[in-house]
Amino acid sequence: MNAKLDSVQIETDLEALVPDDRALSHPPLQDRVRGLMERRSLSQARAATEIGASVTALSQWLNGKYPGDVQALEVKIRQWLAAQDRHDAAAGLLPSRPNFFRSPTVEKILAVFSYAQMMGDVVCVYGHPGVGKTKAIQQYRDSNPSVWTATISPNSASLGAALEEVGDAVGVREIGRRKLARAIRRRVENTRGLLIVDEAQHLSVAALEELRSIHDATGVGLAFVGNPDVYARLTGGERSLRFAQLYSRIGMRLFLKGATLGDVRVLASAWGVKGAEEIALLREVAEEPGALRGVSKVLVLAAMAGGGEGVTLKGLRQARANLNVKE
Ligand SMILES: Nc1ncnc2c1ncn2[C@@H]1O[C@H](COP(=O)(O)OP(=O)(O)O)[C@@H](O)[C@H]1O
Ligand SMILES: [Mg+2]
Repeated sequence: MNAKLDSVQIETDLEALVPDDRALSHPPLQDRVRGLMERRSLSQARAATEIGASVTALSQWLNGKYPGDVQALEVKIRQWLAAQDRHDAAAGLLPSRPNFFRSPTVEKILAVFSYAQMMGDVVCVYGHPGVGKTKAIQQYRDSNPSVWTATISPNSASLGAALEEVGDAVGVREIGRRKLARAIRRRVENTRGLLIVDEAQHLSVAALEELRSIHDATGVGLAFVGNPDVYARLTGGERSLRFAQLYSRIGMRLFLKGATLGDVRVLASAWGVKGAEEIALLREVAEEPGALRGVSKVLVLAAMAGGGEGVTLKGLRQARANLNVKE
């Protein structure tokens, strides 16, 4: 597709669509917005943010009841739609990228999550980066009811901030730690749910303790996921008395040392790559620190370099050489 031609087209459209007759121009534009929101599963709030309007304004406009400057709002809306068209055109130039595969490592993680949810138990999944932990979390959440995921960053390590992350995950908001903790409990109890905390190595001891007490009080399943430090964090390095309460509750743990050959094969075969030399090269990439993250990047680069021709050994070698960023 010719990007330049496309943008000319869009600009002309912009002018042509400035409404003379609002009653006539409204329905198609609203339908386009509704269609796009549906296609991208956007809430009105998300769409409004992208457009640069308030949720109220967007909602009123969608219902043909916007009391403000309709023309100004519609200029923004048209710009948003045009930007999306350009985005779609650019996406067409990239090879379509398979997004999720049931790799052996992911299967193992999913089984541990199922156990935790079914039994309302505490589990710990920890291991090196890039083996598919976060992918597994997303997959589990998207295919099971009552699963909530919170991701902890170094900035959200403290008790208050971690509770806010969890509150966001389960959809409650309260001012004050105790109120928030109570609201989270009420939200998760009797749900037979699972709360998954990713990057849990960042949690402070106080935050870990609070999550444990939420589990104790409600029986909600709890999964701590993160790098190899997570387990050390849960056990306090050694099994000191201080951590005995937490440690004793871990019903199952799964340590992932690295990506497996099976994982590499699954990712590779999604791109039609099956040859022994190709797999050997990708396996080497998988042994580097980024693990499957690197494998995915090399596959995507090789696919892009190959155009429609698919992924070749030469393409993989080149991609690997170009990808000299070690994670
Ligand atoms: N099962 C999978 N399906 C598709 N891509 C995967 C899978 N497992 C790993 N990957 C690739 O590896 C990258 C790292 O996976 P991720 O789940 O973020 O690892 P971790 O959370 O263990 O650090 C992903 O962004 C993706 O490119
Ligand atoms: Mg991760």
